[in-house]
Amino acid sequence: MAYLIGIDIGTSGTKTVLFDEAGTTIASALREYPMAQPANGWAEQDPELWWNAVCETLKQVTAGIDASEIKGVGLSGQMHGSVLLDKNGRVLRPAILWCDQRTVAECEEITSIIGAQHLIELTANPALVGFTAPKVRWVYNHEPEIYEKIDKILLPKDYIRYKLSGEFATEVSDASGMLYLDVAHRCWCDELLSKLDVDKNWLAPVYESPVISSVVNSEAAALTGLKAGTPIAGGAGDQAAGAVGNGIVREGVVSATIGTSGTIFAHTDTVKVHPSGVIQSFCHAVPGAWHLMGCTQGAGMSLQWYRNNFCGPEMDTARVMGVDPYYLMDQAAAKVQAGCEGLIYLPYPIGERTPHCDADARGVFFGINPQHTRAHFTRAILEGVAFSLRDSLEILRDFGISTSEVRATGGGGKSKIWRKIQADVYNAPITTVQSSEGGALGVAILAAVGTGLYSSVPEACDAIIRTNEPLMPDAEQAKIYDGYFRLYDRLYQALKPEYKELSKLYY
Ligand code: XUL
Repeated sequence: MAYLIGIDIGTSGTKTVLFDEAGTTIASALREYPMAQPANGWAEQDPELWWNAVCETLKQVTAGIDASEIKGVGLSGQMHGSVLLDKNGRVLRPAILWCDQRTVAECEEITSIIGAQHLIELTANPALVGFTAPKVRWVYNHEPEIYEKIDKILLPKDYIRYKLSGEFATEVSDASGMLYLDVAHRCWCDELLSKLDVDKNWLAPVYESPVISSVVNSEAAALTGLKAGTPIAGGAGDQAAGAVGNGIVREGVVSATIGTSGTIFAHTDTVKVHPSGVIQSFCHAVPGAWHLMGCTQGAGMSLQWYRNNFCGPEMDTARVMGVDPYYLMDQAAAKVQAGCEGLIYLPYPIGERTPHCDADARGVFFGINPQHTRAHFTRAILEGVAFSLRDSLEILRDFGISTSEVRATGGGGKSKIWRKIQADVYNAPITTVQSSEGGALGVAILAAVGTGLYSSVPEACDAIIRTNEPLMPDAEQAKIYDGYFRLYDRLYQALKPEYKELSKLYY
């Protein structure tokens, strides 16, 4: 038997999955952990939480199998987080995460050092608060005593690679989100690094995503149940990994992923850069390909926040019934009509990336009336997240990208009502794939290609990934949503100056 392992180091937990070579899940383990929010808009995590979760989940999935049959491991994870190490490989401070909003001034600083247009020419992207370079610049400005000790800057999954193998390595898809990569040429950008006082030696060598760049060492083997010498593929940032796991490896089909954040993802065979940088342009995990991506920051996070703070009754009932509280929330939301009888949610609890790029934006429920119940609020969140993703889809459509089929994944693919809402809001057929392992499957596929089980990523995806029947949009509902979507977009424009005011009152 040949096994593959995919590890996904997420924001709310780490999921480790053992697959056979046909991509069938054999065992899966999840270990959750908290995210620290030391100030409004800040988000940090201690990398040791990830490492402990990786060790624990690996031990669980490898128990009872012969570890020498594991042909390869793939790593995926939350993108953009800054793991800073000193010269002894010790973590210097908690990692600043992708959803942290503290770096508005640093983005302006980087943009003025490099020049807005030149920055897009060099890196294919503007400076966005979520990216790694502004976080490192924040440490330079606010924690110089830490900055001077930096010897390595790693992304979350690449820190885990270091713990598993003792090697420093990264790969093009995740590296694209650092703002240090020349995305068009798939290598570090020397001009940018020197202008930002970042030593190139602080960055790990960058590989194509399926490449086996390291192997498990004996210290990690003893802690994880893996065998020393097991190959570790480059892997991918969670978005590119999820795209591979959902078969988004050719032009034509786009994915809509709803996890903590929400993204619209399109494969491109050539590098395409949006002139304003409103849509991110990154290297794909498919060697020699790129992808375009729009991201809404508080997607699943909005629903989780609402569940935790307002859905005590659903959580209690779910416990008694032995079901997921989201299942009960979905059932109630499905009974509410499209448009929630005039209730609109703006899903910006932690600011917004695409299309507004506004770290000050915050969540809003608009149009509350006495008819509204918790079910309306739940549905308004599902619809608001879909509106936000439609913003990205519209930009891709205007940019000439085909969005004739949208593959829904993550929480938005799992939930029947969220799939229906997406079909009608996007006015496009929604498909799903049979495996729900997304990113973990994606990086297991990359490991399968890296170790020679398949000859290319598209070939492996054709062999492994199966889709379900499409869910077609309903023309009447789509028309209703068009009206709500236009109002949703105007609400942000109306509130934009007020968000600035709010940030002066409370930050
Ligand atoms: C992508 C992004 C998120 C994080 C967390 O640019 O910021 O998807 O990777 O999931």
